Amino acid sequence: MASEPRIGFVCAIGWEQPLIDELTSIAPGAAAAAAAPGLVTARRVPALMRCDTVFARNRLPDIVRISADGARDLARLAGEAADAMLDSVAMNWTAGFTTPDAWTCESEIYADIHARASLLSDLFDERMRTYRKRATERRRPWKEIAETGRGIVVTGLLTKKDELWLSVAQLGRDAAGIPVPAPWPSPDVLLEFDPIAPCRSYYKLEEAWLEAGSAPKRGQTCVDIGAAPGGWTWSALRRGARVTAVDAADLDRRVAAEKNCEHRRDNGYEYMPEKAVDWLLCDMIVRPMATIGLVERWLEAGMCRGFVVNVKFRGKDPSSILNAIEKLGKRFALDRLRVKHLFHDRNEITLICPPDAGGRESKRRR
Ligand SMILES: C[S@@+](CC[C@H](N)C(=O)[O-])C[C@H]1O[C@@H](n2cnc3c(N)ncnc32)[C@H](O)[C@@H]1O
Repeated sequence: MASEPRIGFVCAIGWEQPLIDELTSIAPGAAAAAAAPGLVTARRVPALMRCDTVFARNRLPDIVRISADGARDLARLAGEAADAMLDSVAMNWTAGFTTPDAWTCESEIYADIHARASLLSDLFDERMRTYRKRATERRRPWKEIAETGRGIVVTGLLTKKDELWLSVAQLGRDAAGIPVPAPWPSPDVLLEFDPIAPCRSYYKLEEAWLEAGSAPKRGQTCVDIGAAPGGWTWSALRRGARVTAVDAADLDRRVAAEKNCEHRRDNGYEYMPEKAVDWLLCDMIVRPMATIGLVERWLEAGMCRGFVVNVKFRGKDPSSILNAIEKLGKRFALDRLRVKHLFHDRNEITLICPPDAGGRESKRRR
């Protein structure tokens, strides 16, 4: 049996309420509600189809709830739900079945149904190959659909042994240009393992570059505040940037030995470069308002063209932090600012504001 279609939003497990609050403030009448851990659904309000959200990691248009006792029945119902779109739109398509924690770092909440999600995937494939041979000729790997930016994405999220949420949607883009739905399992899949990366924070910044569609270029300058042991510094250095790493603590010796790395044991709050840099990077574990205040001082002084800054919640309500960030964005007219709860973020969010391609410094506003 299938329910009325809604929009599905996938978030990290445990972050459903901040996402509901965010969606409710964008579209108060959308009746956003948690459907399962890591999955929020809302009415199909146009404002929610394109908005750039902080806490949603994937958006699944026209999601329906399907329930059946046996895996084979679930796969059949999923196939029947996909048939209409696959028949009416002659596009290539891709399909994936997983659990909502595919977008959450280190969660075990769906561990007991992971194998069933794989089984469902196999049964869905078997059904398509057996009964939908013509449609199966148009099936492509998710990478190909992502690269061409065109196609139909079938996403199945198993939330209980007998409950599947299914979205069958044409690939589109949200206001920030991010694919909707994202035709890949999670950002983690797109990041390559780096044997030199001195800590897992490295992957957070790598993910932020991916999200921004922009990263330091050869010869660009960066200041990395709260740099030790050097994951973020390394992420910029390996792209050919010159990095001033500010931290009283030691850097990993391989990172410190890089010719484009200067380590300064200064206080990150007080440090200011002599001339403006391309990127301010900051991952200090300090109070959220202290981090926002630091960014504000750098922007007031016109000392960075772009930034990636991680703001730790440290027990503070996310909405008050988001309000402060919104004010910052308005005051400095940061049109390119994106605020994301990344796959690699835990109790924190990341502010990503790439320099503009023309090379202008951040606009000052008082
Ligand atoms: C989460 S770690 C940074 C990890 C780093 N991004 C990486 O990828 O390796 C936070 C760092 O902030 C530094 N820190 C905290 N307060 C600081 C301050 N006032 N000035 C400079 N660094 C500070 C700590 O010493 C610590 O190394």
